[in-house]
Amino acid sequence: MRSQRIGYLASASVLSGLISSVAADCECGYSVNSTSFPQHEVFTDLIESDFLTIQDIAVDTDWKIQRYWTPYDPSSGYYGENFTAANVVSNPLKYNYSLEHPTESQLGGSAGLQLWVRSELQSNGLIPCGQVKSARDDIQYGSFRTAMKLTPVNGTCSAFFSYYNDTQEIDVELLSRQYTNYSLSGSDVPSSPINLVFHSVQSIIDDYQLPNTSTYGRPVVPVALTNEYHEYRFDWTPDRVSFYFDGKWLWDLITDVPSWRTAILFSHWSNGAAGWTQGPPTEDAVMTISYFKAYFNSSDPQRMSDYETRCKDPSAANSICIIPDQKVAPGAAAPQNGSASTFFFSQHSNMTSNQTLYTGENSGNSSSCAKVAGIPLWAVGVGVFLVFGQWIGF
Ligand SMILES: *[C@@H]1O[C@H](CO)[C@@H](O)[C@H](O)[C@H]1NC(C)=O
Ligand SMILES: *[C@@H]1O[C@H](CO)[C@@H](O)[C@H](O)[C@H]1NC(C)=O
Ligand SMILES: *[C@@H]1O[C@H](CO)[C@@H](O)[C@H](O)[C@H]1NC(C)=O
Ligand SMILES: *[C@@H]1O[C@H](CO)[C@@H](O)[C@H](O)[C@H]1NC(C)=O
Ligand SMILES: *[C@@H]1O[C@H](CO)[C@@H](O)[C@H](O)[C@H]1NC(C)=O
Ligand SMILES: *[C@@H]1O[C@H](CO)[C@@H](O)[C@H](O)[C@H]1NC(C)=O
Ligand SMILES: *[C@@H]1O[C@H](CO)[C@@H](O)[C@H](O)[C@H]1NC(C)=O
Ligand SMILES: *[C@@H]1O[C@H](CO)[C@@H](O)[C@H](O)[C@H]1NC(C)=O
Ligand SMILES: *[C@@H]1O[C@H](CO)[C@@H](O)[C@H](O)[C@H]1NC(C)=O
Ligand SMILES: *[C@@H]1O[C@H](CO)[C@@H](O)[C@H](O)[C@H]1NC(C)=O
Ligand SMILES: *[C@@H]1O[C@H](CO)[C@@H](O)[C@H](O)[C@H]1NC(C)=O
Ligand SMILES: *[C@@H]1O[C@H](CO)[C@@H](O)[C@H](O)[C@H]1NC(C)=O
Repeated sequence: MRSQRIGYLASASVLSGLISSVAADCECGYSVNSTSFPQHEVFTDLIESDFLTIQDIAVDTDWKIQRYWTPYDPSSGYYGENFTAANVVSNPLKYNYSLEHPTESQLGGSAGLQLWVRSELQSNGLIPCGQVKSARDDIQYGSFRTAMKLTPVNGTCSAFFSYYNDTQEIDVELLSRQYTNYSLSGSDVPSSPINLVFHSVQSIIDDYQLPNTSTYGRPVVPVALTNEYHEYRFDWTPDRVSFYFDGKWLWDLITDVPSWRTAILFSHWSNGAAGWTQGPPTEDAVMTISYFKAYFNSSDPQRMSDYETRCKDPSAANSICIIPDQKVAPGAAAPQNGSASTFFFSQHSNMTSNQTLYTGENSGNSSSCAKVAGIPLWAVGVGVFLVFGQWIGF
């Protein structure tokens, strides 16, 4: 995953003789790179957040810090959760991909957006938790990808999910009581169950759903989730949701696929439920998000018509961009020429306009914006120069 930027520049100069009739790259959208994905399936809109460089989530117009609480319920034994701003902390790289300090963060520890669950309960039985939600809530189908490093502290749930209401929800939930960074069996292989769920959080807590049924998958990856960032991904189409881990397919859920427009959320929480999070944690626990990328369709008629306007010829070169697969665990930084070890369309010049992208200049402005920048996408499409590492299968 190194020297992508160099690769693009080299390819651009080599191939710049190609004719194109589009005004900017990706104006007809983004397509998943898969032979099994429906042909011609294209998503129109983009959100990309590089939390390694975003300085302050509080002014990031793409995200909203969640502030709400649920009550302590002594009869069930569940603690309450109090989602507060103090538990959502930006900890970007100190030197932005510098060669000398490739991973050093401003606050110490792993760089990225931190969501905390605190061990000290509030007096009314509430566990302090952290959650953020996308500003866009007009998301309707797409491919959603995040890199996260999880807490080794027992008793929390790290969640990456879409939520419209309790029956329109796609969940990736990682329970620190379940995953290990060591072997359960005495061999050297860690064991990390990944809970993939439709339906409500409450139904899981109440054990309404059994693993590996039609709306709940629980594959296990032999990888420690706490030592490195790993990419968690789901591709949502009308007939299925396909889940991936570091670019490798994990599971499909095909029953009761959500269809409604939605927002995307990250949550780090605990409520003591014996059947789910357990906890509360005995020490403060942090999950760290390195990036979020979404390539998706909008339910907003204005956005749909914007797309129709800017997409002049889907068959033209560069008009549809293929989304590069993240095939290996994405490091916090690759100390090569300022290049991150993952790919962002938005860090290249000449990208189509009217995509949601926080620039830092427009806090409070959640309208479309962004002069994002672009790349020659035919080059990505043929995969000439993107040097992905080998997938080590499991
Ligand atoms: C932007 O991209 C389009 C489509 O690839 C291309 O035709 C155009 O020349 C590019 N413009 C610049 C300034 O690079
Ligand atoms: C997304 O929008 C594009 C462009 O309108 C359309 O071709 C595609 O079928 C849509 N995909 C889904 C899953 O709705
Ligand atoms: C949630 O936590 C915040 C910050 O500590 C506090 O101000 C607020 O009162 C708490 N909410 C409840 C319902 O206790
Ligand atoms: C890192 O990048 C961000 C976003 O581009 C910028 O605001 C910040 O000043 C940069 N920090 C350093 C140390 O260069
Ligand atoms: C969720 O929203 C969908 C679509 O509006 C609706 O059909 C469903 O009944 C809602 N579910 C709940 C639990 O409100
Ligand atoms: C977490 O704690 C529970 C309850 O003590 C225990 O059963 C479980 O094995 C622990 N999980 C890990 C990963 O240590
Ligand atoms: C597992 O995580 C614990 C807690 O952070 C740490 O002390 C331990 O060294 C880790 N073990 C391995 C094999 O990484
Ligand atoms: C569900 O299936 C996966 C893949 O076959 C397996 O790894 C996992 O252990 C199963 N989970 C349960 C709880 O049976
Ligand atoms: C960009 O978005 C604005 C506001 O929705 C719209 O007026 C404009 O026509 C769009 N431009 C393109 C090229 O889609
Ligand atoms: C697309 O998938 C093919 C086949 O797996 C691969 O060779 C190519 O590198 C991929 N392209 C991108 C941009 O990820
Ligand atoms: C950085 O780029 C230069 C010029 O393209 C190249 O010579 C050098 O080897 C690169 N450095 C690393 C560490 O990849
Ligand atoms: C919002 O951002 C857009 C694009 O950068 C800009 O044109 C517009 O003036 C901004 N609006 C406000 C209220 O700042």
